[in-house]
Amino acid sequence: MQQVVHDPDRMRALVNEARAAGQRVGFVPTMGALHAGHTSLVAQAARECDRVAVSIFVNPMQFGPQEDFSRYPRTLAADTALLAAHDVDWIYAPEVSDVYPPGDATRIVVGGPAVLFEGERRPGHFDGVATVVCKLFLAVPADTAYFGAKDWQQTLVVKRLVCDLGLPIRIIVCPTMREPDGLAMSSRNAYLSVADRPRAVGLSKSLHRAAGLWSAGADTATIEQAMRETLSAHGVVVDYAALADPESLEPVPDDAARAVALVAGRLGSTRLIDNMELPARVTPQRDTKR
Ligand code: PAJ
Repeated sequence: MQQVVHDPDRMRALVNEARAAGQRVGFVPTMGALHAGHTSLVAQAARECDRVAVSIFVNPMQFGPQEDFSRYPRTLAADTALLAAHDVDWIYAPEVSDVYPPGDATRIVVGGPAVLFEGERRPGHFDGVATVVCKLFLAVPADTAYFGAKDWQQTLVVKRLVCDLGLPIRIIVCPTMREPDGLAMSSRNAYLSVADRPRAVGLSKSLHRAAGLWSAGADTATIEQAMRETLSAHGVVVDYAALADPESLEPVPDDAARAVALVAGRLGSTRLIDNMELPARVTPQRDTKR
């Protein structure tokens, strides 16, 4: 039977009690409006741990002033019902004032992997993510936390945060769940108009195009251009389409053996992101004789 917990102190006590009894606790942080991407993380946590906590908290701090905080879907009743079919022990759903008490003035600022891409387009976003994730880890002191590769850059930021602050929690990254046509599942897909929904497949199509060119040995500029073309051909207004180092997100040289392809684009007022880690490739040695 799952229990909805609002109070952070109570939440912490429940998790500490379970761990003191020798149970492994898995934690899946979310902003709710749950879909099969979220439940895949819950399923992995349930397979690997004795107890599972899921947090549902729409974090105001990670939304910019022009972003969708007020219209972000809040569906706690449906989320609770969906999670009832899974092995979830606790749903942690704090109030904004529990997470950000009156007078709140403390932020965690992450550099490194937080700087480019989403960091550039959404100033303050990853500070908001890092701050809330740290607070959630304090309220839910689990052994292991599960994050989706769907938000590739977020996984790097969270790993950096955990390493730099020495937080005693293990981070597991789980694969992206997709709709049958390839669109990555996202709570924001609900915003898409009927006309825009089929166009959204342009994001995953652009990633597959990148993967094909990558395996054939194409250079970075060619691959990025092809991604942009595929997005535009589907009517997606390109925000970025790039290859990057999978760990640092720095630009990759043409003969790179490893890369992640990252895309972000708009359909109407809906902004979507997606990514694909490209398979390691053998590249010809650079000519060093000259
Ligand atoms: P949210 O967007 O609700 O996502 C919660 C978790 O589900 C994240 O780890 C995300 O990467 C994962 N997820 C989303 N779509 C997925 C998909 N299609 N397949 C697999 N996993 C998917 O990410 C956040 O919330 C917030 O930033 C949060 C970490 C909770 C901090 O507020």
